[in-house]
Amino acid sequence: MSSTLINGIGELVTCDGTGSDLLGVRSKTALVVEDDKIAWIGAATETPPADTMIDVDGRAVIPGFVDSHSHLVFAGDRAGEFVARMTGQPYDGGGIGVTMAATRAASDDELARLVEARIAELRALGTTTIEIKSGYGLTVTDEVRALRIARQFTSETTFLGAHVVPAEYAYDRAAYVDLITGPMLEAAAPYARWIDVFCEPHSAHAFDANEARQVLKAGAAVGLGLRVHGNQLGPGPGVQLAVELSAATVDHCTYLDDADVDALADAAETTVATLLPGVEFCTRSPYPDATRLLAAGVSIALATDCNPGTCYSSSMPWVISLAVREMGMTPAQALFAATAGSAKSLRRTDIGRLVVGNRADFTVLDAPSHLHLAYRPGVPIARALDVPITSQRASAGL
Ligand code: NIG
Ligand code: FE
Repeated sequence: MSSTLINGIGELVTCDGTGSDLLGVRSKTALVVEDDKIAWIGAATETPPADTMIDVDGRAVIPGFVDSHSHLVFAGDRAGEFVARMTGQPYDGGGIGVTMAATRAASDDELARLVEARIAELRALGTTTIEIKSGYGLTVTDEVRALRIARQFTSETTFLGAHVVPAEYAYDRAAYVDLITGPMLEAAAPYARWIDVFCEPHSAHAFDANEARQVLKAGAAVGLGLRVHGNQLGPGPGVQLAVELSAATVDHCTYLDDADVDALADAAETTVATLLPGVEFCTRSPYPDATRLLAAGVSIALATDCNPGTCYSSSMPWVISLAVREMGMTPAQALFAATAGSAKSLRRTDIGRLVVGNRADFTVLDAPSHLHLAYRPGVPIARALDVPITSQRASAGL
């Protein structure tokens, strides 16, 4: 077992839930990593011996970002759709079919290379855990292929056969739901930890509450955890369904009524509201009011939703700056949501918080404090720290 001492830390943000802002900020502190775990945290003047040492020269160290919502397995380009939206064309989910066609046409190697490049990009921006969904294959073979590829990079894989109803089933939606809940689920489940559904009555391509319930219940029956795309394009049943079925998270939450907020507050220990402000930015949509959710006691996560349609960005620092500027979160609330909050949405306690025994997933900021994440929008100050332990990157897949 090799050990690494990390010292010279200007500000250590542990996100351990202590302090009035929950960030557990410590100064004059050092860390020791053994194998892929944090073995010791203590005074920088009392460090134990270690095999190697990394001096971060006064920089801030924070938990690696946990990006709990992404769609990285895709081919093709929809930049034109983005430009059309910037001039007023609304998003309705129809472009998913365009990406589906390009993804089906791509080779396994090409898709794996695309995912690998996206993973390198997000790690260079400070993300150390990524959830990846399928959802651009929408045949048994293509969904399994997407999950197999995603599995090469992360254990947090999500079966999203219920992304949209593909054109070949447009006149027989029930048959597509039967396919998802039957043969597709059976083939996909060995490669997935989660199942997700785009529950959205405001899109003709997505699924209504009854269809979504069928999909989620079938996934739960084979042992998958539940995630929901809900309340993205207008008020809808996604939040209530997620809470009813004890889903780990309901994502987007752009349009919430008081009953939705109350339901999420009551379910705060079980169901997280994952906010994706990059989507509002890239679709010119109104931002959800995070202060309303925080005041009610809702558990909040932040993620990118990196995908070719509604947000082609893998930058968690940018998401944090949007959450602060556009959704009323404090820098501390945004950082907590992007680390410990997102970890909670993945039902993980070993990531998102820098405490002894947890994974040694660190992000270093070229800045003296975490405040710079929001204060320096668009500037690449965050990067995942490469601790020289081979098993760390291997097991995280990053
Ligand atoms: O989370 N809403 C559904 N899925 C994605 C968009 C996918 C796409 O447009 O390609 C989302 O926004
Ligand atoms: Fe999504």
